[in-house]
Amino acid sequence: QDKDTWSGRFNEPVAELVKRYTASVDFDRKLALFDIRGSLAHAQMLTSCGIIAAQDLSDIQRGLAQIENEIIAGEFEWSLDLEDVHLNIEKRLTTLVGDAGKRLHTGRSRNDQVATDVRLYLRSAIDDLLELIKSLQSALLDLAQHHTHTIMPGFTHLQVAQPISFAHHLMAYFEMLKRDAERLHDARHRVNRLPLGAAALAGTSYPIKREMVAELLGFEGVCENSLDAVSDRDFAIEFTACASLIMTHLSRFSEELILWMSPRVGFIDIADRFCTGSSIMPQKKNPDVPELVRGKTGRVNGHLVALLTLMKGQPLAYNKDNQEDKEPLFDTVETLTQTLRIYADMVGGIKVKPEAMRSAALQGYATATDLADYLVKKGVPFRDAHEAVALAVRFAEQKGCDLADIELAELQQFSAHIADDVYQVLSLEGSLASRNHIGGTAPNQVEAAIARARTYLAS
Ligand code: ARG
Repeated sequence: QDKDTWSGRFNEPVAELVKRYTASVDFDRKLALFDIRGSLAHAQMLTSCGIIAAQDLSDIQRGLAQIENEIIAGEFEWSLDLEDVHLNIEKRLTTLVGDAGKRLHTGRSRNDQVATDVRLYLRSAIDDLLELIKSLQSALLDLAQHHTHTIMPGFTHLQVAQPISFAHHLMAYFEMLKRDAERLHDARHRVNRLPLGAAALAGTSYPIKREMVAELLGFEGVCENSLDAVSDRDFAIEFTACASLIMTHLSRFSEELILWMSPRVGFIDIADRFCTGSSIMPQKKNPDVPELVRGKTGRVNGHLVALLTLMKGQPLAYNKDNQEDKEPLFDTVETLTQTLRIYADMVGGIKVKPEAMRSAALQGYATATDLADYLVKKGVPFRDAHEAVALAVRFAEQKGCDLADIELAELQQFSAHIADDVYQVLSLEGSLASRNHIGGTAPNQVEAAIARARTYLAS
């Protein structure tokens, strides 16, 4: 059996239970390829600064290339005794290339090494996620494009409020995702800084060139304080907060899909491949995917709280607590990635039922505000108009009909300003068309919004 890396200092070997408790290799091996990239850049810098020999560098490069192949081929033997991904790779390197492998860790600590690996991992995850957000946005646009004239009720308090187009409703989610992407993009700048060179916590006595490593690894700069570099995980927390917001947006959307798909509402159908049946009730088609998105939002929100709590009690600088950052972070990336991927597909599989949407919009006096606005345009103060229309709604409710079904003479009891041009205003189409300004639901405005969105996605 291998002796522990630090056995020189200890009188007895680490207990088996403790080894298993402290080991992270089962999950941090996900960082392996980033660890290798970081090591290659570090070694290159050490050589360029005259700290290790050119021969050492080429041995290290050869060894790490082989290790990379072994890992990709699934042939690398991970050992729990070697605790984590870093020590596993370093040990194998030494086995392969001898002393050069032992020189790699010069001027470096696992503290700055792991912080670097996590940042490289997260930067790459963010880039993938930004692409996935775009795919979902473009699926939304493809659906919205066909529905700028599809009228549905807009709700407040889940009560029918005013008519809107289905496209306008979808475009609300486009906007949320646009901000989500902006947030990720912004967070990426703070992820993209190099900790290496901080070593354990105080920096190193070797004449290193941190900027060179930063440039080799594509970082925008170096972390400017060595204690901060190894100890903070705010970049991971910030990312997870962005992820929580994305999931929260998709959770709201999911809630709507579930509601819309309920036979009581029947606004849409979701393609069968995103649903499941019931083992007992033969008639069932359940919206499992949106329900799971709603459920998994709780899971990601939980990871955010886990990371915040992990950080809050830690004195500077590095503490082993930080090893616990990985599982919540990896799971957040994984969950969000799968969710975005499946969502883009599912939006493409939504079947819209315009008749059901329209008939729902015709119930609940969705154009009452339009009638009040009509009166205001004829000179009635808004509060008086509001009152007059409220009385008209009460009258229609008693008659069991819509506002548009009330005869002109009857409508005029509520205001003498009402004339026969009122019926245009009471129609769903008239209501939509009148909200003709940027951000409004008028079909031409929504078409313009979709066109702007396409330009944005192409840029
Ligand atoms: N596996 C550790 C982590 O994930 C690597 C750094 C360990 N450093 C240490 N001094 N124990 O944080």
